[in-house]
Amino acid sequence: MKIDLRTIPDAEVSGIDLMDVDITLPAPEAEPQRQYYFMALLKQQLVPERAKKNGKEFLTACITTFGCQMNARDSEKLVGILEKIGFVEEDSEEADFVIYNTCTVRENANNKVYGRLGYLNGFQKKNPFMMIGLCGCMMQEPEVVEKLKTSYRYVDIIFGTHNIFKFAELIVTRFESQRMVIDIWKDTDKIVENLPNDRKYSFKSGVNIMFGCNNFCSYCIVPYVRGRERSREPKAIIREIERLVADGVVEVMLLGQNVNSYGKNLEQPVTFAELLRKVNKIEGLKRIRFMTSHPKDLSDDLILAMKECDKVCKHMHLPLQSGSSRILKIMNRHYDKEQYLTIVKKLREAIPDIALTTDIIVGFPGETEEDFQETLEVVKQVEYDSAFTFIYSKRTGTPAAAMEDQCDPAEVKRHFDLLLKEVQQISAKKAMALEGKVMEVLAEEQNTQDASLITGRLSNNSVVHFPGTPDMIGKLFMVKLTECKGFYYLGEIAENA
Ligand code: 5AD
Ligand code: SF4
Repeated sequence: MKIDLRTIPDAEVSGIDLMDVDITLPAPEAEPQRQYYFMALLKQQLVPERAKKNGKEFLTACITTFGCQMNARDSEKLVGILEKIGFVEEDSEEADFVIYNTCTVRENANNKVYGRLGYLNGFQKKNPFMMIGLCGCMMQEPEVVEKLKTSYRYVDIIFGTHNIFKFAELIVTRFESQRMVIDIWKDTDKIVENLPNDRKYSFKSGVNIMFGCNNFCSYCIVPYVRGRERSREPKAIIREIERLVADGVVEVMLLGQNVNSYGKNLEQPVTFAELLRKVNKIEGLKRIRFMTSHPKDLSDDLILAMKECDKVCKHMHLPLQSGSSRILKIMNRHYDKEQYLTIVKKLREAIPDIALTTDIIVGFPGETEEDFQETLEVVKQVEYDSAFTFIYSKRTGTPAAAMEDQCDPAEVKRHFDLLLKEVQQISAKKAMALEGKVMEVLAEEQNTQDASLITGRLSNNSVVHFPGTPDMIGKLFMVKLTECKGFYYLGEIAENA
């Protein structure tokens, strides 16, 4: 007897063999059953048919991810669906299905995609069965979609950030219609659980705890392309992590644009600190990371939870953006320099060896020499373990794009170079301070250049290379950091942790 997906409860649907699904019935209306129906249709019928037409045993797919950890996690979900329907992942862009999961946080990210699309068209001419899919933040911009519709007609599927769960259905539509399929949602409050996903690493995984952003920092396009903030239910998060742990995962990275405001909009509100305490209790889980924290929502209780929860890594990524209170106000960040420095002080008092990292933008409209010097001052004072520095990029539609006093590019470049030099000097000094220490390292992968080495990470996120074998991957070891090489360490095992 074939299975009628409409009768299967949400939590059980992921366990069903797609070959057993009755695809002669109409597609269910409810999610995630509806998507599993389309996956079954693809797996049983449409993908093998297309492979046969193409003279191949199976079809291959290649997905390239731009941008942040959120996108990386979204790509794992897309790969999960592709694998489930019978595609085989490959690295080359000569694959039968090439997907770009795009980013639009800065202008150059967009330009990269257009450049690569031209190049892909060459492959498509050689393989008429090749499909090109575009998704992610850039697709949420109407001008981008217009440009693709007129100048890049050879793209097959375009979808945005709110409906990646519909990927299987979109592939079916493309197979059946032979036309460019465009499905962009402006926003949604829908969170579809229990869909497949694939992991890049066997032992660590990102876990979305919330989607979207409500902050509207005046330079940032994210709230426009990722929509309003919505949190997942703690139960769903815990269940996902428990399943991951059962499947060999020892480290999770809790993901959200502003994790510190997690849970505020749930029917039964929960704080991020409370969530951390719950996740910390999961047996078998060894490390918990999270990203990104907004200083304005960082509570004393979160600092306490970080201190108390033994699995939470001693690392906080705390974007500063600017050290000038005047600029921070125009950026709509809702904290000033003093408040930021107070948080840093509290964090260091509670967790003395915590690593602090940050994001800084140089050249925000109206930024003066004095403003820049204040940023430099904060950088010197905080002594970040590392910092991502960005040149301000004008994003159409954001309030900052309409500000008149855009900075002189030569001056911005000069400031950027000065900042980078300062940041690098401080990072090197901070890294050097750990030389000779014995610290806990999670073995993550075989070193790509020297197979006799294993590459792992410290709790503070620094990279360590040490002699070892692939069977050590996913396990914790006490490693002596014998030599600091600037941004990474060479080490040797001191004992099994
Ligand atoms: N220009 C430059 N950097 C930006 N960021 C966000 N928007 C912009 C922009 N328009 C940076 C911020 C953010 C990081 C992810 O990207 O520093 O924290
Ligand atoms: Fe952008 Fe600000 Fe939201 Fe971060 S908090 S995603 S910088 S709007």
